[in-house]
Amino acid sequence: MKIAIGADHGGYSHKEAIRAHLVKRGFEVKDFGTYSEDSVDYNDYAKLVAESVRDNKYDRGILVCGTGIGMSVMANKVSGIRAALVHDLFTAEATRLHNNTNVLAMGGRVIKESLALQIVDIWIDTKFSNEERHIRRIAKIDSYKGE
Ligand code: RB5
Repeated sequence: MKIAIGADHGGYSHKEAIRAHLVKRGFEVKDFGTYSEDSVDYNDYAKLVAESVRDNKYDRGILVCGTGIGMSVMANKVSGIRAALVHDLFTAEATRLHNNTNVLAMGGRVIKESLALQIVDIWIDTKFSNEERHIRRIAKIDSYKGE
């Protein structure tokens, strides 16, 4: 699995830990930045990661900002992206089983690094359930243009 990651200044430190963790686990990881704690706009990193997943350059994306909210809102504007804002282990698993999310967003100011790494592991390792009702609901998300 190839994984794209990105963060703003609020998520920089967690993103560094996530990259090291994923590389240690043997995944191919593309780090789209940011590369320091200098203030930047989360939008730019969400766009880079989400578009790389949309374009099938990477299988999954992981985004971290201060709250995870800006990242998830921005990523969900990219067609084909289903981004989940997750801060607990239950929803990390549920959003893979039910929503087949391809982008994970978290808040670096909301949860500790150790919990973020546990969430990453569950979210990466959980396969979509492939149950008919979930396939049907995801199709309704993907076909809805909101216009
Ligand atoms: C940056 O201060 C902060 O607004 C950002 O990291 C994020 O929380 C936005 O949703």
